[in-house]
Amino acid sequence: MTAAGFHPLKVADVRRLTDDAVAVTFAVPPDLRAAYGFEAGQHLALRKAGEAAGAVRRTYSICSVACAEPAELTVGVRQVAGGEFSPYVTGELAPGETLEVMTPAGRFGLRGARTGGGHFAAVVGGSGITPVLSIAASLLAGDADARFTLIRSDRTAASVMFLDEVADLKDRYPERFQLVQTLSREEMQTGLPSGRLDEERLTGLLPALLPVADVQGWFLCGPYGLVQGAERALRALGVKRGRIHEEIFHVGETAPVELPDAPEHSTVAATLGGRSGSWPVQAGETLLEAVLRNRSDAPYACKGGVCGTCRAFLVDGEVRMERNFALEPDELESGYVLACQSHPVTERVELDFDR
Ligand code: FES
Repeated sequence: MTAAGFHPLKVADVRRLTDDAVAVTFAVPPDLRAAYGFEAGQHLALRKAGEAAGAVRRTYSICSVACAEPAELTVGVRQVAGGEFSPYVTGELAPGETLEVMTPAGRFGLRGARTGGGHFAAVVGGSGITPVLSIAASLLAGDADARFTLIRSDRTAASVMFLDEVADLKDRYPERFQLVQTLSREEMQTGLPSGRLDEERLTGLLPALLPVADVQGWFLCGPYGLVQGAERALRALGVKRGRIHEEIFHVGETAPVELPDAPEHSTVAATLGGRSGSWPVQAGETLLEAVLRNRSDAPYACKGGVCGTCRAFLVDGEVRMERNFALEPDELESGYVLACQSHPVTERVELDFDR
């Protein structure tokens, strides 16, 4: 069994999807395949090869069908204006080069649920299609009775990622896969009006498209505003929060939280890769920062509360999180926290990254 963490993987293919997006395929050597087994909806953190542990890293969702021992892994990458990593991937990266790739992480997806022929649906914006493509393809291939409705929103027809792959799902599963494409900045030939998929529009649109109450799982993925609007629309239509799964791409700055109850001195004990240690937490720093100073292999990617890579089980003590766009309510209830967003409230805090 290979340890979780970064490994150098060779780029087998870089395929252009749109003007500003590519699909990058990595070749996985046989001895690492078990370590890179993934579930639909998970993502990979990438960083340039040969750079220090603290180098810029970004997470990108896997778009391929779930596999326990993949020989290849494909992620979708859209260029973020002013980004520190995506312009390199979309503009310069070529087959034959090597990137450091973290083993798959993330909890967005079916999470091992038995689907039993249910109806599933997704509302996605822009590059939010990437993990949902994997979820839909894995579900439809793995469960001959499952149905999937995909509602996607893109700015223009030219900016639609994975057009061929989604069309392929339609061809392969004409009875079980339904696609609704909307464009926010262009008229559609199909008669659907243009405009953003916001709460009001979804509240009217969803009941006309599918039996909302019968949908077993909703996957919302894309920019913060779209995901929040879709969640409010679904809740207003009576959907339970437990049936809604969210993954947010791109969140703007939020105000820092006040920490009036922070203890003067605190320590964090952490278990990671089967090894434990205990270290002081300096004033104002997050638990991830305190652990990283001593264990450079602590898992993280966005450091912004979005990707969920730094998820850890809170064994003891109390923390306050600045923000959380990654953990679902049931994970919070079970005692998971985001180390990159957590500050100690008690003098001693214990985390387990292996659980
Ligand atoms: S590193 Fe992304 S949520 Fe903490």
